[in-house]
Amino acid sequence: MTPPTGSPECKLGSLDVDAYLADPSRKQAFVTPMFDIIAPRYDAFTKLFSLGMDAGWKRRAIAAVIAVAPAARRVLDLASGTGDVAAQLARALPQATVAALDASPRMIDAARERLRTTDADVASRVTPMVGDMMALPQDDASLDVVSASYGVRNVPDPVPCVREMARVLRPGGALVTLDFYRPAFPPWRALFLWYLAVAGNVVGWLWHRDPIVYGYIARSIRDFMTADEFSALLRREGFEVVSVHRHLFGGIAQHVARRVG
Ligand SMILES: C[S@@+](CC[C@H](N)C(=O)[O-])C[C@H]1O[C@@H](n2cnc3c(N)ncnc32)[C@H](O)[C@@H]1O
Repeated sequence: MTPPTGSPECKLGSLDVDAYLADPSRKQAFVTPMFDIIAPRYDAFTKLFSLGMDAGWKRRAIAAVIAVAPAARRVLDLASGTGDVAAQLARALPQATVAALDASPRMIDAARERLRTTDADVASRVTPMVGDMMALPQDDASLDVVSASYGVRNVPDPVPCVREMARVLRPGGALVTLDFYRPAFPPWRALFLWYLAVAGNVVGWLWHRDPIVYGYIARSIRDFMTADEFSALLRREGFEVVSVHRHLFGGIAQHVARRVG
C-alpha cells in the first residue's frame, strides 16, 4: 500500500487507520502527514474545536512556566506546531531563547510564517526546528524548561518521550505539559469522546473532505492514558509532580513537574 503523504490529495481515511495507530512502528507515518495536511488551518481549527477555550488553557500553562521558572534562559517547546506557545514563552521570558521543535515540516513552515509577523525581539529568540520528541537533539541537562501542549498523546510511545524530556532538563528544571487525557469517569468519557468524534469528523469532512484528519483526536484520546496515569509516568521517569490542573473534568490537564536531581 502507498504510504501516506502530507499532500492535500492524500486521503488518510482511505487507509487502515486503526492498523497505523495501534502499531507504534507505524503511528508516526500516519501522524506526521496528517499534521502536514492540517497545518495551514490548525490555529483556526483549534479555536473552533475548543469553543475558544484553548487560548485560556495555554495562557494558564505560560503562567505556570513563569511561576515555576521565572529566570529560565534555555527553553524547549515540544510538538510546537505553529509556534503559538513558543512565541508566547519568548514574550513572557525576555531573557530566554526558545527552541520550537516539531515533527511536521509544514507546521514548522507555519511557525516560521508566524515569526515573520511577530515582534522582532521575540522572533529573534525563537528557533523553529523539525525533530522528533522521542529522540531530541539537545544535550543532557542543557535546558531550564521543557513545555509540550497536545504533544505527548501524538507520539508512538510516550515513555521514550518523557525519558527524553527528563534527559535534556537540568536537575531542578521544569516541565509544563497540557494535553487531552482519557477521562476516568465512564459516562463523561463517552460523552466527551462522542462530541470530539462528531465535531472532528464534520470539520474534517467540510475543510479537507477527509473526516479522520480531525476525527483522529477522539481516537487518540480513547487509546491514551488518564491524567493520573501520566502523573505516574512522570514520577517513574524522574520527575516530581508539582501540580496537576484539570479542565473539562479530566478531559484536558496541565501538569507542572520538576526534574529530580
Ligand atoms: C495537536 S498539535 C499541537 C501543536 C501546538 N503545541 C499547539 O498546542 O498548538 C501536535 C503536534 O505534535 C507534533 N508531533 C507529533 N509527533 C511528534 C514527534 N514524534 N516529535 C515532535 N512533534 C511531534 C505534530 O506534528 C503536531 O504539530
